[in-house]
Amino acid sequence: MNPRVCIYPGSFDPITVGHMDIIERAARLYERVIVAVLHNPNKTSAFSTAEKLDMIRRCCAHLPQVTAESFDGLTVDFAVSREAGVLIRGLRAMVDFEGERTLAQLNSSICPAVETVFLMGRPEHSAVSSSAVRELASYGRQLDGLVPACIADEVLRHFRKD
Ligand code: PNS
Repeated sequence: MNPRVCIYPGSFDPITVGHMDIIERAARLYERVIVAVLHNPNKTSAFSTAEKLDMIRRCCAHLPQVTAESFDGLTVDFAVSREAGVLIRGLRAMVDFEGERTLAQLNSSICPAVETVFLMGRPEHSAVSSSAVRELASYGRQLDGLVPACIADEVLRHFRKD
């Protein structure tokens, strides 16, 4: 397992400025960051896995050490398959804490070789979430400051189409 390689797993439905901040900071800490999009056909999501990956790759084009892949199954199994020693999660506020602690403890019990590392979200991003983006976009509201500028129009168009 390589301690200089991390995965950053999530739903990314869609990627937000909060996710981007965590990715950029992880890219300063690790040699390689793999953004890992959970592909769960049993869960409905606004964007397909291919659309999510395409948006993430365009948002991260300026970060050569960052790649994006989809996975199914357990996150730690994906980490092991990529020899990533670290699993990154962002924490926005106390409401995230309990769920994230449970996830980290479960992952650690399944696979102690993968260490979860938390990065604290920036205060200005504490209210930013993919679900807030989806809700605002469904009412046609501008997404400035919520999603990276390069995907804002596309996200809005996606919901206009529905
Ligand atoms: O962006 P999200 O929805 O907060 O991401 C949650 C995610 C995808 C990281 C989490 O649900 C996950 O790891 N799912 C894959 C299944 C798994 O490994 N579960 C934990 C052990 S039971």
